[in-house]
Amino acid sequence: MPSKVSCLYLLTVVCWASALWYLSVPRPSSSSTSSYPGQPGFPVRQSRRSGNGSLGNMRTRSLNPHDFNYLINEEQKCAGEAPFLVILISTTHKEFDARQAIRETWGDESTPSDVRVVTLFLLGRNADAVLNQMVEQESQIFHDMVVEDFVDSYHNLTLKTMMGMRWVATFCPKAHYVLKTDSDIFVNMENLIVNLLKPATKPRRRYFTGYVINGGPIRDMRSKWYMPRDLYPDSKYPPFCSGTGYVFSADVAELIYNASLHTRLLHLEDVYVGVCLRKLGIHPFQNSGFNHWKMAYSLCRYRRIVTVHQISPEEMHRIWNDMTSKKHLKC
Ligand SMILES: *[C@@H]1O[C@H](CO)[C@@H](O)[C@H](O)[C@H]1NC(C)=O
Ligand SMILES: *[C@@H]1O[C@H](CO)[C@@H](O)[C@H](O)[C@H]1NC(C)=O
Ligand SMILES: *[C@@H]1O[C@H](CO)[C@@H](O)[C@H](O)[C@H]1NC(C)=O
Repeated sequence: MPSKVSCLYLLTVVCWASALWYLSVPRPSSSSTSSYPGQPGFPVRQSRRSGNGSLGNMRTRSLNPHDFNYLINEEQKCAGEAPFLVILISTTHKEFDARQAIRETWGDESTPSDVRVVTLFLLGRNADAVLNQMVEQESQIFHDMVVEDFVDSYHNLTLKTMMGMRWVATFCPKAHYVLKTDSDIFVNMENLIVNLLKPATKPRRRYFTGYVINGGPIRDMRSKWYMPRDLYPDSKYPPFCSGTGYVFSADVAELIYNASLHTRLLHLEDVYVGVCLRKLGIHPFQNSGFNHWKMAYSLCRYRRIVTVHQISPEEMHRIWNDMTSKKHLKC
C-alpha cells in the first residue's frame, strides 16, 4: 500500500514539474493562428513596448501608438525597381471570392505593361482560428497579403488603413503613388495610371485626391457613420476623401502615419485620414472619376471613371471582360 501512495505522489510531482517547465520555456511567435485565449505569457504581450508606468514614460509615449506585430508580411514585395503604384485593398477574411476577382481583373500586377504595380490586401486578426489559417494558406499561394495582430472588425478599419500607411513608409518608401480602396470597388486602372497619374511626368509630392466630402458628424446612433460627441465635438469634419478609393503620392503615407501617432483615433477611417491631412496642411483634390456610389455598367460610362463602388466578384469579371474585349470600340 505505501508504495502505491508514494508512486502517486511521484507522479504528481513529475506532472507539476513538467507543467512549470512548459510554461517557462519561451516559444517563438511564428504562427498567426496559435492564439490560446487566457494562456499566460502569450508571446505577443511580451513583445509589446514595455512601460513601467512612470511619469517619464507617460509623457513620451504617443497618444495612439500603432505597436502591432505583423502576423503575415511581404517585406520583399517592393524590392528592386520602385513600383509606380501600390494598391492597398482593405478586406476581411471571408472575402476570398472578392480577392480572387480583383487578382484576376484590375488588381493583376502584370496587366499594366509599362509601369510596375504592387497589389496588397490588408487584414487584421480574426477571432476564428480556421479563418486565420485559410488566410495564411492563401497568402502562401499569392504572397499579396499583410496581416497585423489587431482584432479585425468594422470598428477597427482605421487601424487597417494605418497599417497600410506604415507598410508603405517602411517597406516601399520609393513608390510613386498609392491607391487605398476596398474589396467591392472596380478600378479603371488605365484611366487611373495614364490619365490621372501620368507616369511620364515628374511624380507629385504632398498630393491627395479622391471623392471629397465636406460634411459633419452624424449624431444619430442608428447610423453606420455615427460619431459620438465626446469623441469628436466639432460640428464639421475637415474635407476628406471617401474611403471607397483615394490616391496619394507615396510620401504622404509616412506623413499620415507619423501624424496618426499623435492624433486620437476615430473609427471612421476616411474621416480620420482627413483629420491627419488637416494637421499636415495637405488639401485633398476633388476628382469626379471617383464614385462613392454604385453606377450601372455601360462601356462608355466606365471608361470615364476611376472607381465605382458596390461591385460583386461576378460583376467585376463581367465588366473587366467586356472592357478588355472592346478596347477597339469608340464611344
Ligand atoms: C521606470 O523607468 C524609468 C525610466 O526608464 C526609470 O528611471 C525607473 O527607475 C523605472 N522604475 C521602475 C520601478 O522600474
Ligand atoms: C480593435 O483592435 C484592438 C487591438 O487588437 C482591440 O483591443 C479592440 O477590441 C478592437 N476593437 C474593436 C471594436 O473590435
Ligand atoms: C516619422 O517619424 C520617424 C520616427 O520619429 C522619423 O524618423 C521620420 O523622419 C518621420 N517622418 C516624417 C516624414 O516626418
